Amino acid sequence: MTTRTTTRAAALAATGLLLTACGGGSAQDGKPSFEGRGPITYVAGKDTTGTVQPMLDRWNKAHPKEKVTFIQLPTDADAQRQQMIQNAETKSDAYTVLSLDVVWTSEFAAHQWIDRLPEKRYPLGKMLKPVVETSRYRGGLYAVPSSSDGGMLYYRTDLLKKAGVAGPPTTWAQMTAACAKVKKLPEAKDMTCYAGQFQKYEGLTVNFAEAVNSAGGTVTDAAGKPDVDTPEARKGLDFLSRSFKDGTIPKKAITYQEEDGRQAFQSGRLVFLRNWPYVYSLAQKSGIKGKFAVAPLPGLNGPGSSSLGGHNMAVSSSAKNKATALDFIEFMTSEKNTRTLLEDASLAPPYASLYDDRALIGQYPYLPVLKESIVRAVPRPRVVPYGDVTAAIQQEAYAVLNGDKSSAQALRDLQKALGKAVAQ
Ligand code: GLC
Repeated sequence: MTTRTTTRAAALAATGLLLTACGGGSAQDGKPSFEGRGPITYVAGKDTTGTVQPMLDRWNKAHPKEKVTFIQLPTDADAQRQQMIQNAETKSDAYTVLSLDVVWTSEFAAHQWIDRLPEKRYPLGKMLKPVVETSRYRGGLYAVPSSSDGGMLYYRTDLLKKAGVAGPPTTWAQMTAACAKVKKLPEAKDMTCYAGQFQKYEGLTVNFAEAVNSAGGTVTDAAGKPDVDTPEARKGLDFLSRSFKDGTIPKKAITYQEEDGRQAFQSGRLVFLRNWPYVYSLAQKSGIKGKFAVAPLPGLNGPGSSSLGGHNMAVSSSAKNKATALDFIEFMTSEKNTRTLLEDASLAPPYASLYDDRALIGQYPYLPVLKESIVRAVPRPRVVPYGDVTAAIQQEAYAVLNGDKSSAQALRDLQKALGKAVAQ
């Protein structure tokens, strides 16, 4: 994002114009009006679960005059953000409903790229509180949670058992010790211990923040001020860089996004994997079916903490047919639909009650672990210039994992870069 657009957003905020709709649909009293019915588009990252189109087919069958077309963007979160911003900056009406990563709400709301939504329409009270928080900006609702996400540790139950390891590790040291035992098994001789997402993209920001938080550090403090140049943060980052150096994490994991790690785990090349819940359903259909389970992320001295992930649905301010868009969001984010997404693709629902449903826990025994992961998760910085913040994190973390910088130097540089980004 350019400094110019950020400054513009700040100026708009100061004059109180932030809540005024622009683009399609007229605005009254500073509130967007949601008018117009007809065809719309739904824009999201590539659907790796195969569950979205069947859901849209159901909507289309019931709404022949308000059909929705699925526009699939790349799987990489940063590439999705770029394309959505480009659409917004040209005020194009090509995108109607956006599946926004939880970390983009402030940026999109402050720039008026999305409309403030009428809260009463959506059953937010039934949803997990921290999940709903991700869809707010300055008290207003700008999106509706469609799926949450919490990082979890996938591990090979069969191999741990055979190696005499009693249960999943709660600390990083226990995890490496468990791997050393598993590696002695003949069937594990070509396996490596652990992977997460370490390519230079949003997934690296997630994994960096989790390492830092799981060692007792922070990226930004409670007031949103950068506070990352600390001994705790260094211990977290050191865990990752040491693991790359000593082979606990395979070298090629520096290129891994979510799907690469999933493939490696499913094809029996990894003992432990940090990933999101969507992996569970796919791994149950793979060669390791019944041979893995899920535990909370480990940390330095005990269980670690996840970054809060997930996606929320927003209305592009330059779109047409916004009345249809609101109905479509209601349909997609309903308890019924998010239950289907959980049943078919193990996506984390925003609704609290689904985590306590006995039948669902029978099918997905990890649900209590996931609920804990989500409610205890640490949000990534909630700032308007999120693009600059995540780019700085990615650059510094990548330099360390790649062996180009010491973690002490990287954290000093990151502290400065974050200070500059949030001061804009
Ligand atoms: C998942 C999460 C999202 C996160 C992304 C990183 O899609 O839901 O919040 O930013 O992964 O790759």
